[in-house]
Amino acid sequence: MKKILYLFSFVALFSCSSENEEDKHNDEPNGQLSYQVDIAPIIQSNCMVCHNAQAASGGLVIDGETSMVAMAQSGLLEEVLLLPPNNPRKMPPGFNLSSADLNRLLAWIVQVNE
Ligand code: HEC
Repeated sequence: MKKILYLFSFVALFSCSSENEEDKHNDEPNGQLSYQVDIAPIIQSNCMVCHNAQAASGGLVIDGETSMVAMAQSGLLEEVLLLPPNNPRKMPPGFNLSSADLNRLLAWIVQVNE
């Protein structure tokens, strides 16, 4: 019985990783970005100063993964990240994300829309 369980989890693991074989330019071993590990720190450093419950710039409070997923699935997140720097709706305003952070966010947007 134990052996069968081991075999089953191996097959499950294997089929998961082969689904994501196309390289999305991230360094997670299974090709999937984790919100908590990969995305939350970027949002914390670049967005939360304005989008916390007190500041709520533009009326927007980012309160974690659920609100980020909603923004990513509506297309709004990608839109504001990719606006030209002179557009006041471009996020973050006044400074740019590093290209590594921007690419990681864009890869995560693709992932949550799959
Ligand atoms: C310096 C403060 C500041 C930072 C930092 C900031 N924002 Fe904003 N954000 C604003 C303001 C102000 C608005 C309202 C802009 C407008 O509507 O003209 C806004 C609006 C938005 C909107 C709604 C846009 C719309 O037009 O509906 C989104 C989504 C957003 N921000 C996401 C982010 C994300 C993601 C980050 C981090 C990458 C970020 N913001 C960082 C100030 C900020």
